[in-house]
Amino acid sequence: MSDITEIAEGRTRLIIPAEHSKGGPGKRTGQVFFNEQMAFNRDVSVMFLRALDKDVPVADAMTATGSRAVRIANEVSNAADVVANDIDPASVDFINANIEANGLRNCRASNRDLNILFSEERFGYVDIDPFGSPIPYIHGAIRGCGRNGILAITATDTAPLAGAHRAKCERRYQSRPIKGAMCHEMGLRILMCSLAKELAKADRGMEPLLSFYADHYFRTYVRVTEGAANADKTLSKLIYVKYDGKTRERSYSCEHDREYQYGPFWGGNLHSSAHLASMTSDSTAEEKRCGKMLELWRNEIDTVPFIYDISELSSFLKISPPPMDDFVDSLNAIGKASKTHMCPTSFKTDLDLKDIIAVYRSMPGREM
Ligand SMILES: C[S@@+](CC[C@H](N)C(=O)[O-])C[C@H]1O[C@@H](n2cnc3c(N)ncnc32)[C@H](O)[C@@H]1O
Repeated sequence: MSDITEIAEGRTRLIIPAEHSKGGPGKRTGQVFFNEQMAFNRDVSVMFLRALDKDVPVADAMTATGSRAVRIANEVSNAADVVANDIDPASVDFINANIEANGLRNCRASNRDLNILFSEERFGYVDIDPFGSPIPYIHGAIRGCGRNGILAITATDTAPLAGAHRAKCERRYQSRPIKGAMCHEMGLRILMCSLAKELAKADRGMEPLLSFYADHYFRTYVRVTEGAANADKTLSKLIYVKYDGKTRERSYSCEHDREYQYGPFWGGNLHSSAHLASMTSDSTAEEKRCGKMLELWRNEIDTVPFIYDISELSSFLKISPPPMDDFVDSLNAIGKASKTHMCPTSFKTDLDLKDIIAVYRSMPGREM
């Protein structure tokens, strides 16, 4: 190791390459990859695992410097066995330096292709955090995930998933994305749909515990459920969407046809409210952001997949937007609505578009 630096993240000391990414999507700039902006992503793993009621063996399968694995081993009190794995031999010195810097006995370095790791060992929590798409690694991750284990998957290929590269999304995820106000919600649901379909091939299903979009990536944590009946139940939650860009009307169906041509998407919950209720943000690296996001995730309505944007309505109706909080309160007076973590100007609701428009038009004090 040469040209290294030490930083503190959460309660953990991290030894990392002096030259490293400060933000944006993953690209190796130093000897081994490290991105400061992903501190929030690692914080969420720590919050997530602290909220489990029992200890599970953890595999951080694409760990690079070992940052996430070492943070979990150091900051999750019941983490007894954490494997920090990376295929890159240059990672091993960083992983070991980080284990030593934090005086850890519950974390071990591994230098295997994750497909080999997961053919040799099974874990209760499997984390996949690749450059770009997780698709090439999902099969291996499922194999390494023990009975009723947890899979945590990051996707940084947001452009295809959010519809900027439709053909690439169709090739890679076998799903048609939607551009515009719904793009991130539906991008996340394409990732989850791919996971559901891959699990079903192994007669396994899934129950999402936490799924979100942040910065430049999507992330989902799911509890794997076992058996053909659970696989079928999971597949029954896949949907296709009809979206008319002219009228802004959107609806969904379980059947694919010429009208319902977008998708398939995961149409079930993004989160488990019980798991979210058990998570706390104290002593994470970005405590304030973690607290704010936890609140948004907890309050987000999770019964419908539809998201709207207030600026979408504003340009469609040619009426300047009302204050977001007042508008969501007014929607809630006649149906269910909430803000969403996806975007500060977006909201979710189970109301029909005509009712949303009626409420929008009725908001006081704006020029027409
Ligand atoms: C985006 S980086 C991971 C960053 C890390 N999780 C963090 O929070 O800093 C992706 C890593 O995956 C590793 N990788 C790529 N293919 C792999 C494979 N087949 N098995 C294990 N690791 C792999 C790369 O060497 C790289 O270090």
